[in-house]
Amino acid sequence: MTTTASPKPADAPATLGLTSEQRAFFDENGYLILPDALSADEAAALLGESQTMLRDFSIADHPMTKFSTGEKEDHVGDDYFLDSGDKIRFFFEEVDAFNEAGELTKPKERAINKIGHYLHHLSPPFRSISLSAKNAAIAKALGFHDPRVLQSMVICKQPEIGGRVPPHQDSPFLYTNPPSAVGFWYALEDCTVNNGCLSFAKGTHKTSPVKQRFVRMAEGGTGFVDNNDGAQFPPDIQAPDVTTDIQSDVEYTMGEVKAGTLVLIHGNVLHKSEKNLSGKSRFIYTFHVIEGQKKYDERNWLQPPEQGFSKLEA
Ligand code: FE2
Repeated sequence: MTTTASPKPADAPATLGLTSEQRAFFDENGYLILPDALSADEAAALLGESQTMLRDFSIADHPMTKFSTGEKEDHVGDDYFLDSGDKIRFFFEEVDAFNEAGELTKPKERAINKIGHYLHHLSPPFRSISLSAKNAAIAKALGFHDPRVLQSMVICKQPEIGGRVPPHQDSPFLYTNPPSAVGFWYALEDCTVNNGCLSFAKGTHKTSPVKQRFVRMAEGGTGFVDNNDGAQFPPDIQAPDVTTDIQSDVEYTMGEVKAGTLVLIHGNVLHKSEKNLSGKSRFIYTFHVIEGQKKYDERNWLQPPEQGFSKLEA
C-alpha cells in the first residue's frame, strides 16, 4: 500500500506565529527581536498617523496647560491619565517640555512624550496592525489561551528632550495574578544608541519578581504598593533562590533596531532606554497583552472598558 507524500516544507505557507528557535530565544532571554514585522509602508503610515494626531489635538483644554503658577495642582493631570484607558490622550515630556513659567519650550508636536491608551481600538490604522491574525498567532505561540490587548501607546521620544526611562518591568503596571503581560513593541523609526533605543537585562524575567504593583490610591492618583498577596512570577518560571532587583548592577544589551521591527518583551524582564539627546526622534508603537483567563487586579491603574479588553484572535 502506498501513502501520499506530505507537502515539502518549501510548499508550506509562511510561518505564522513564532518558530521554535524564536520561542526558545524569548524563553531564555525575556525578549525577542523580529525584524521586518511591518513593511516600510506600514511603518511610515503609522508614523504619519502619529504625526497627524500630534498636529491636530487641541491643547486649549489640556490639563497640563492649566498650570499657571509653580504650585502643583494635585490630581488635575491624574484624572486625565486615569480616564485615558478608553480614549486617545496626549502626555507631555515630564522634564524639559515646559519652562519655569509653565510655557512650552517646543511646539506641541515636539513636546509630547506619549499618546495613549486606546489606539488599538479607536484608531483604524493602529487597530488593524494590533488586532491582526499575525499577532494572534504570536500570542498563541507564546502560550496565551485568551490574549487580550489592554493598552496601547505611541512613545515619541522627541529630539533633544525625549526622556530617559529607568530600569523597570512592565508587569507591575498591568498586573494579573499570576503575571502574564507581554509587550508588543514596534519601531516606527530606526532606534539607535543615539536616539534612545531599548536595552535589556537578558534573562532577568527568570530572576526578577514582581514585587510591587502600580495602582489607584485610595487618596486619589496613583502609586506603588507591595505585591504581598499575588504571584511574583508566571507559573512556567520557578522562583529563583537569588533574585535580581531593579537597582541591581546587571549588564544591559542594546536593542538597536530598524523601523518596522517588532520586539516582544516579557512582563518580568528588566529593560530601559536612555534620553534622546540627538536631533532625531524615536517614535515607536507599543501595546500590551495579558492572559484573559488570569485574574486582573481590580486595583490596577488601568481598568477595563465596558466591553472588556480587546480580544486578540485569528
Ligand atoms: Fe517598559
